[in-house]
Amino acid sequence: MDANTLYLELLKRSLTDTLHGREPDPEAGMQRYMLDFIRHYVPERAITMLPRARLDHLQACVEDVLERGVPGDLLEAGVWRGGAVALMRGVLAVHGVTDRVVWGADSFEGLPEPDAARFPREAAAHDGPVLRDALQNLAVGVDKVRANIARFGLLDAQVQLLPGWFGESLPRAPLQRLAVLRVDCDFYQSTRDVLESLYDKVSPGGHVIIDDYAEDEWTHCRQAVDEFRAERGITEPLRAVDGRCYAWQRTES
Ligand SMILES: C[S@@+](CC[C@H](N)C(=O)[O-])C[C@H]1O[C@@H](n2cnc3c(N)ncnc32)[C@H](O)[C@@H]1O
Repeated sequence: MDANTLYLELLKRSLTDTLHGREPDPEAGMQRYMLDFIRHYVPERAITMLPRARLDHLQACVEDVLERGVPGDLLEAGVWRGGAVALMRGVLAVHGVTDRVVWGADSFEGLPEPDAARFPREAAAHDGPVLRDALQNLAVGVDKVRANIARFGLLDAQVQLLPGWFGESLPRAPLQRLAVLRVDCDFYQSTRDVLESLYDKVSPGGHVIIDDYAEDEWTHCRQAVDEFRAERGITEPLRAVDGRCYAWQRTES
């Protein structure tokens, strides 16, 4: 293995806090998984909750657009502690890329209150023991996120954070083109807001990743994506990254 591969491997293990242990296993049964999830993520050592397969996929998407010269920046909507943003910046560093920016958009105040009448599963999760009690609805302040990325030596001008609720922050974000759009914001309205604001900026050949597409037990994310794709006539196939995360690639014109 070369040094770049070894560096990215170490970075991913460190971001996920899996150097000395394993990540929670979604195949272990829901009760076991939730207990392990809380044990693993409440202490603030892991700075991404993406399972390893999704980090590998994210790296592959970034390397794919670099290799094929698909123009644009990289953006994650829903950054939590900042680990996936740090990985994307690390991949750019490894490949010596200096003309692309990694954007991280988030409220930095956690999840919005969902409309309980329209999205009952989301309302139950928002007010439930895992999200509300154990993870404070995923609220992580922007200074903490910056500090997390800086700990890896990866915070510089090629990392730009966009604070605010997506419905307000994204329409006025100073973005031109995107080569990778990673949507990781759980809820129906958040997902819709991101797609409405940013989908048209994704270059042909670029990747759109929906982290929560099949999180059907507690989100209405699938509905948001299916409706958007139907309204916009998007026919590129949705492919499974793992059991819950899905992605598609915009056709090259
Ligand atoms: C599951 S976390 C993201 C996990 C992260 N990508 C990682 O690598 O671990 C979801 C994030 O979406 C953000 N979020 C959800 N809806 C939002 C909205 N409408 N506007 C801004 N941020 C939002 C939350 O603040 C939270 O940080």
